[in-house]
Order: sequence, then structure tokens, then C-alpha cells
Amino acid sequence: MCGIIAYAGHRPAAPVLMEGLRRLEYRGYDSAGIALAQMKNINCFKAPGKLAALEDKLSAAPMPPLAGSGIGHTRWATHGVPNETNAHPHLSNNRRFALVHNGIIENYRELKERLTGLGYAFYSDTDTEVLVNLIEEERKNAPDNLTAFCNALLQAEGAFALALLCLDEPEAIYAARQNAPLVVGLGQGENFIASDLTAFLAYTRTVIFLEEGEIARISPRDCALADLRTLAPKDYAAQHIEWDVQSAQKGGYKHFMLKEIFEQPAVLRGALAGRINPDAGTLRLPELEGLSRPVRLRIVACGTSYNAGLWAAPLLEQWGGIPCAVEIASEFRYRKPILGRDELVILISQSGETADTLAALKVAAGNPCPTLGLCNVMGSSLARGAELVIYTQAGPEISVASTKALCSQMALLTLLALHWGSEGGLVPPERLKGLLADFAGLADILEKSLPSIAMEVKPLAERAANARNIFFLGRGQNFALAQEGALKLKELSYVHAEAYAAGEMKHGPIALIAPDFLTIALAPPDGHEAKIFSNIQEVAARGGPIIMLGRPDKNARFGREVALWSIPSCPEGFTGFVLLPMLQLLSYEAASYLGKDVDQPRNLAKSVTVE
Ligand code: M6R
Repeated sequence: MCGIIAYAGHRPAAPVLMEGLRRLEYRGYDSAGIALAQMKNINCFKAPGKLAALEDKLSAAPMPPLAGSGIGHTRWATHGVPNETNAHPHLSNNRRFALVHNGIIENYRELKERLTGLGYAFYSDTDTEVLVNLIEEERKNAPDNLTAFCNALLQAEGAFALALLCLDEPEAIYAARQNAPLVVGLGQGENFIASDLTAFLAYTRTVIFLEEGEIARISPRDCALADLRTLAPKDYAAQHIEWDVQSAQKGGYKHFMLKEIFEQPAVLRGALAGRINPDAGTLRLPELEGLSRPVRLRIVACGTSYNAGLWAAPLLEQWGGIPCAVEIASEFRYRKPILGRDELVILISQSGETADTLAALKVAAGNPCPTLGLCNVMGSSLARGAELVIYTQAGPEISVASTKALCSQMALLTLLALHWGSEGGLVPPERLKGLLADFAGLADILEKSLPSIAMEVKPLAERAANARNIFFLGRGQNFALAQEGALKLKELSYVHAEAYAAGEMKHGPIALIAPDFLTIALAPPDGHEAKIFSNIQEVAARGGPIIMLGRPDKNARFGREVALWSIPSCPEGFTGFVLLPMLQLLSYEAASYLGKDVDQPRNLAKSVTVE
């Protein structure tokens, strides 16, 4: 959680930091602050609430035009309520150090007690204030700031990505990472550090992804890396990033979420480009080179990425011919799973920084099984920690609610199923050719359908918004999409929604059905429809209103409780790619109708880098 940005360069720092914070706000948005080295002082500006509150504060403050270095932070509270005192940056008692922090210092209580004994005063409830005072304390005996910074960090347990401003080196910024992301941006006469490269994409696309236990020092002219433990200098290889700044902007859409939903046809094209040749009926996944065909698959992920795994498991079994289990990372990490050499563990994560998924990776890595990371963010911890990586290439996803990332994950998992299916002879060449042709045509279908889906959804979304409780029902792969529909609606509109495998209703949940309890049933023509139609009848018979996502000709069989929302026609086996944006737009419109903050729902953050 939390976003950090640091700047050292030829421009006034405050606007650069504020722009960076605007792009990082998705990571946390309960308070924000910046610190600037100005006229022999470190000046801090902090405000609770959204970034606009900090902007107001800054516009009222006298700002010398040439403050070239500074640090900034947007917070998702872990220690202490979101107020101005707890907002970052935190200053040390002598005001010579300012620190921003993403992560948790687990032993902060012990450190605080020791520092209190030494006479330090604490004003906030945060672990970060403890750390910055520890740096002040270490500086008393250290030859320089770098040594003091490292000596302090070596006493800290937990996760951190940090940026430190020191009054006696006002041009420089120190940064360190341990179990939280940090990336350095290299510009001309200016350098950057941030939790996520979108924060400085407008200035440079040349980046260094810091490794675990690495420390960086940037100034306007240079950048140096060192090992946190030994202080030994480290070489680095900068990388060029393809993402452009437009892809991290709203581009005329009201919300990032809406833009990201409408980007899904392009995401599909991007996922397939260079991987399939529908004319030749061929499919290549060079990322899997050297991997022998797994005997079993284990997918581990959180949230929407977990739903991607649930959705794909039946495909990996039916087309791929490989048994597949799907697990929630926060559960998996505390089990002692038995993972053999012939089992492939696939970890799915948009950000590649989700703490539970990374912990699951560690658990898997302690076994003889190979690991494959499926993730969107280049250079992320998952991408670097897994043995094999497939990038989903969805482009930056800014809205806290994940949309296009799921579409890209589903596309890649489908390709994996087809790859193993064709390799294992379950999908013969002619069938593969047909499926690849269908798959290649899907982006056009989606592109054509999205505008009408967006129109049709509005009255249905109002019904959902006005419901107190909603069941999302589905069978087979649609149960996974029902889970995703319920998750999206909950997180965006705060309407209570739960997903059930439709066949489970009769085992208890159907007791809740009443005229004020809405059911949203996913009933595409996929072979399960006869069964789910029966489940819909059972709900209707108890007076429960239903929105059915299905095909028009089937409507005749239902009474007036059932409102049909017609699924655009698309090739068999690929309906999920059309159902998905229908559900996404339903929750988008429901949240908009209720006046909720679509891109930044309450209590959430984009990357969950804490347990
Ligand atoms: O970055 P990840 O894919 O690992 O994130 C996993 C979940 O935190 C994420 O999908 C979350 O559930 C979203 N808020 C869903 O919209």
C-alpha cells in the first residue's frame, strides 16, 4: 500500500512530486504529503484526505521556484488513523531527515521504546516516524548518511520501500527496498524514484527496478546502487519501458475504470499478437521454453486474479488435459502444500507485488516444482522471483478495480490451455486452427458490442444499485465470473453481493430469496444453460427478481420476474470474454449511479503489499 515518489533534478520539485502522487493515488488515498529541501530547512506539507486537499495547502504556501529535490507520499493507513499527523513524510526530531515509507516495520514498538529511552519524542502513531528517528540516532556515529541509513534499516524487520531526504545533502535522495516495490527513473539532469513507474513516465522511460536489499542514491546528475548489508557498490542495467504516458491517462473517459473496460479489445489483440497465427493454426509461447509438460497445475492468486484462475481451471483440464487446482494465496502460504517436481505452480497477479501472492511464491519455491508468474507489471517482484514469466501486457491499470488485467489473464490462460492441449494431442490441429480463428475474431466482436452493452446496462445497474442484497449465480466457468461480478459490485458500490454456484442454492442460500432480493444469473449458451434455467425457475418461483444474462430466444420460458439482458453472440468457448465486460459495466454504472468514487473505492488500494 501507499505510493512514494522522489525527485532530484533541474525542475522545481513540488509540481513533479504532485504529478507523481496523482498517478500513484490509486495505491492509497487517505492522506498525502511532500517534503522539500528549501533554504536550509526541510519543509513538510501534509493533508488528510484526497490529493486535492494537499494541492490547496501547497497553493497557499510560498514556494521558492528552485527546490530541486523532494519526496512525496500518498497513504493507505496501516499504523494510525488517517490524519495530518500520521501522514507522511515524517521528520526526525532534529528535522534533518524526512522519510516516506511504503510497508510495515514489524518491530517498531521495540525500536520506539529504545529511542524513547534515548530522549526522542514521537508525535504520530506510525512506524515510519520511529525509523526516521533511528536514522537520526545512527547518524551520530556514522561517517555519512548512507551508512546511517543502512545501519538503521538493518535493525528494521518487515517490509519497506523508502525514500529519504537529508538536510546536509539537499540535492540527493536515498532509497531502499525490502519486500515492497521501488523503481528508479533515469532522466537528463534529473532522476526519480517511485513505487510504480507510471509516477514518472511523463519524464523518462529508462528505469532500474531495485532488487531486494538494494539501496539507491540519486542526485540530479547521477545514480548509484549499493548493497544494503555490505554497502558494496552494485552495477545496474537500465531498461527501456514501452508503456507511454497516454496509457496512464484517462484519455477522455470519465474514469480510468471505464477507459480500462473499453481497452479490452486492444488488450485481447495485444495478448494474441505474436503468439498465435490463426491462418497457419499455430500457437507459440516462447516463455515456456525448457518447461516439460506439467502433470498437475496449481494456480495461486488473490482477488480478481484468483477469479482468473477459477475461470481457467476447467479449460486447462478440458482443453489442456492437465488437472488443475486453484488456491487463494493468503491460505496457500500458511499450508504446507505437497508440490512435486512435475507440478507447475502458476502465480497470477496484475501488479506482481501482492504480498500474499509473493509469500505463496516463496512457499512454492521451497518445493521442487517449477513456478510460472503471470503478471502485468514488468520488473515486478513476481516477475523477478518466478522461474518463468509470462507478461499479460494489458498496459497500466490505474483504477483500483481490476478489469482489463483480468481479460488479459483469461486470454493468456486460454492460450496455455490450447498450448498444452495441442502438445498433448487433446486439441488436434484442425480443432486448434478453428479455435484460434475464433479467438482472433473475439476482439472485433467485443469492440462492436461494448457501446451497446454500455447503453443497455444503465437501467439494470440502477436496479442493482437499489438492491440491498444480490446473488450472482453461475455454473462451470460462469461461476468464476459470478464471483468476479459480486466482487466488482461490492468493492465499487458497497452493495452486498455474493456469488454462488447455481446448483448450491437449494442447499441453503435459496432461503434468502424474497421479492426484495435480487439475483443476477449468468446463463449463456454454453452447455450448462438447461441446468441454470432450472435454478432460475426455482428463484422465480419464490418471488425473487432476476436479471438473466442469456440469449433472447430462451426468455419465453420465464415469467415476469426475469429480466433478460442479452449476451452478444460470440463463438462457443469464448462467451466469458463478453460476459466479463457486461459485469464490469454493471458495477461501474451502479457505483456511478450511487455517486461512489469509482476509481478509488473506500478502504481499498490497488496493490496490497501488506498481509
Ligand atoms: O495485483 P494483483 O492481481 O495481485 O491484485 C490482487 C487483488 O488485490 C486485486 O485483484 C483486487 O481484488 C482488486 N481490487 C479487484 O478489483
